[in-house]
This record gives sequence, structure tokens and C-alpha cells, in this order.
Amino acid sequence: QPGLKQRLLDAHAAAAEFYTSGLLKPEAQIARQFLTGRGFDRDAAATFGCGYAPDSWDALSKHLRSKGFSAEELTNAGLSKPSRSGSLIDRFRRRLVWPIRDSSGATIGFGARKLFEDDQGPKYLNTPETPLYKKSQVLYGIDLARREIAKSGRVVIVEGYTDVMACHLAGVPVAVATCGTAFGSEHIRVLRRFLFDSESADGRIIFTFDGDEAGQRAALKAFDEEQRFVSQTYIAVTPGGQDPCELRQSAGDAAVRELIERHTPLVQFALDREIAKHDLDTAEGRLHAIRAIAPLLARVKDRGLVEEYIGDYAGRLGKEKAELRRAVAGAA
Ligand code: CTP
Ligand code: MN
Ligand code: MN
Ligand code: MN
Ligand code: MN
Repeated sequence: QPGLKQRLLDAHAAAAEFYTSGLLKPEAQIARQFLTGRGFDRDAAATFGCGYAPDSWDALSKHLRSKGFSAEELTNAGLSKPSRSGSLIDRFRRRLVWPIRDSSGATIGFGARKLFEDDQGPKYLNTPETPLYKKSQVLYGIDLARREIAKSGRVVIVEGYTDVMACHLAGVPVAVATCGTAFGSEHIRVLRRFLFDSESADGRIIFTFDGDEAGQRAALKAFDEEQRFVSQTYIAVTPGGQDPCELRQSAGDAAVRELIERHTPLVQFALDREIAKHDLDTAEGRLHAIRAIAPLLARVKDRGLVEEYIGDYAGRLGKEKAELRRAVAGAA
């Protein structure tokens, strides 16, 4: 008698197969068009296991029931849910689906994108919390990226499923994404297993968010989340508010690789962003710039790193190190 988790894994494996075979059907043309429109060919769709959840209330539920899964198992798996009338209905309908796999490659959930603008519901739907799927730990793409992460000592964090695909196809095989949640300490815990395996001593976590404001805010939030790893955290900001998938389409694979190569240390990114708001040619501008960066440096707990930055930025701001040091102490 297999355990509960194994039953849920089996249900997911069967669901993944159902969705991928669905992508080949005539009715899934809009899903295939979406993929092609994003620069993903058939091979790419196969590598990532992309599928189609049909326009039906219960096609998957019925299929899995016929394979011996109980209504309770399907509900526990997050694949089905009870309708108001009590019958079992599919969670994902009329959507493009991505299997979300654990680091060993087993499917533990799905992400699903709306294909019809007028459909109800959010653009992306994900599996809810289940015994298999803990969104605070899930990293989409980890199954494909783990070896390269361990080998290179680098991981690239992007926002979405299409961005992970674009990065891998562009030659950045270390990309993973959180799924509908902010990157947090539990994701780090998962990554450390692989980053610690790395041959290079300075493992790097490179965040690549959309260049839009929301993406930049997310990057700065990482500033607080990543305290223990702040000297290993980097930012690559996409030009013109594009995400990696859009960048690949407009500028090609090399542009995506160059974006990642140009990563900036997180602290430097945050400081420069403040400094850019001030006119360093005036005394007032320099004063305000110091006042703006002092609280940022005060948030950095790695004192050695703070000293490094005080050295660099005192010079740039035409101040004595002692003055900047006092400002940082005062802002703490
Ligand atoms: N996301 C989500 N729920 C939403 C919107 C976004 O979970 N309602 C997550 C998804 O994992 C998605 C990622 O955030 O892949 C990126 O979202 P966003 O940048 O808004 O998506 P776009 O790049 O605009 O999406 P697409 O390229 O699919 O149009
Ligand atoms: Mn966005
Ligand atoms: Mn996008
Ligand atoms: Mn995006
Ligand atoms: Mn100011």
C-alpha cells in the first residue's frame, strides 16, 4: 500500500501526462500559439513539459478517477476541487500548464496561465498548499538547474515560468523562479544544498527581476531577506522594464546571457539607486545623498562589508570616511 505522498505523486505524474497529450490536440491550438509567440518551439515545450488543461469542467478529474484515484486524493493533490453542487471539478481549465517539479524531477504541482483574456480568475493560477507543494520552498526549474548550480556556484532567480524557459534556452541553465510568492529564507535553505556543493567558494544568488518598478521593489526587499548572504547577493536589472523572456525575444539569446553577466552586488545596486536621485555637484545634494544611503548601510549586518562600502562611497561623495561612518551609526 503506497503512502499518501506517493499516491499524490502518482496522480501528478498522470496529470502531467494528461496535460502534455492535451497540448497536441486541435483544441489546444491557442496554447501552442502562445508558446510559439513567446519563442518556444516543440522541443522547448517538451523539455519543460508544457501542457494544456482543456475547456472542460472535469476532464482531468474523470480521467484520474478512471485510473483509480479517489476524489479525496485528487482534492488533496490540489488537482481537483469540489464544486458548489458537490461534484468534483478540475482546478485548471482552458489554461497553459507547466509542471512544477522537485529537485529529483517529480511533478509536485502546476502553474497555469490564462489563454483567454476574458476568462475569470488571475493570469496565473498555481497549485495550493498540499502535502507535496509548499510554495515557500518551491523553485520552478530546480530539477533542470540543480547540477549547473552546483557546478558553477551560481543561481539566477527570475519571476516567471516563461523567464526560466527563456534563460535556459539562452544558455543560462541556472535559472529558477519562485511560483506566485516572494523569494524568502526557505528558498535559500533549498538552494544552499546545491550552492554549498559548488567548487567555487563565493556562491552567488543573482536576482533578475522585471526592470519595472514592481520588480525593483522586489529586488530591494531581498535586501532585508538576504542579510546572512548579503555579500553573495547580486542584481541584474533588465533594460526597459522587460523580463528575460521579452528580452530574449527582442534582443536574442546573447542579450540574456550578457544581462546575467552584468550582475551588480545588491548593496551597490541599492546605494547607487539612492545616489542617482541626488546632484553630487552641490553640497546639498551630497548631504542628502549621505542621508539617503546611511540607513541602507545601517541595515547591512556584515560590518566588514559596510567598511568596504564606506571606503568606496566616502570617496565618491567627497567626504571623510569618518563622517560617513558617523552617519551610518546614527542611522542604525
Ligand atoms: N504570477 C502569479 N500570479 C499572478 C501574476 C503573476 O503567480 N496573478 C507569478 C507567475 O509565477 C508568473 C510570474 O509571477 O510567472 C511573473 O508575473 P508577471 O511578470 O506579471 O508575468 P508576465 O511576465 O507579464 O507574464 P507573461 O509573460 O506570462 O505575460
Ligand atoms: Mn512583472
Ligand atoms: Mn513575461
Ligand atoms: Mn514578467
Ligand atoms: Mn533625499
